[in-house]
Amino acid sequence: MKIALDGPAGAGKSTVAKAIAKQLDIMYLDTGAMYRTIGLYMDRLGILPQDEKSVEKALASAEFSVKYIAGTQHVFLKDEDVSEKIRENRVSALASAYSALGCVRKYLVKMQQQTAEKQDCILDGRDIGTCVLPDADFKFFLTADSAERARRRAEELKQKGQDFDIDALKKEIEQRDYNDSHRAISPLVRAEDAVLVDSTNLNIEQTVAYIINIIKEGR
Ligand code: DC
Repeated sequence: MKIALDGPAGAGKSTVAKAIAKQLDIMYLDTGAMYRTIGLYMDRLGILPQDEKSVEKALASAEFSVKYIAGTQHVFLKDEDVSEKIRENRVSALASAYSALGCVRKYLVKMQQQTAEKQDCILDGRDIGTCVLPDADFKFFLTADSAERARRRAEELKQKGQDFDIDALKKEIEQRDYNDSHRAISPLVRAEDAVLVDSTNLNIEQTVAYIINIIKEGR
């Protein structure tokens, strides 16, 4: 079984996908973490997203890997586990900028498809239903209004003890939505056959229950 879960930033995709994976005992792949890692890697090398030739060259020698440790996804650059580092707010914008490049998408989509091929899984991202797994058994597009998404991000940052400004967070989220939906290659868009789930007024448990119910009925 393959499940695609797409949607804009901060809609709760990863929390929902993790819970679904656990309930159905299938693998979860967070594809955003992969774009974040490549963004961090290029930034460390000082290569700008405008310089696609250099990005492509650097990708060929990137020692990037995804590993599962005690059932949890970790991302590595060489031997360095960057799973925490990629969650910094700064890296969100980097991920969005480099994710617009064809060479980055080609490189990561191939890895994602190879991983998904081997097992039952749920993938979350922006282009899973439209591009990575166009034949997925179930497709969902999870969204919520941007004020609510900013509030949820703020809550996450608060729990991690990180500083934030709620208005700036909302602006960043809207800017990232705009960039992700207006890029030329695989923009963020609901697949025609994806079920739209608006979680503005739903908590995580309600969202998960709603999606699981559709999967169970459709089986
Ligand atoms: O889901 P996230 O916030 O961790 O994703 C970070 C960025 O990566 C997002 O702004 C756009 C990009 N991304 C993408 O283009 N395609 C995906 N399948 C997943 C993420």
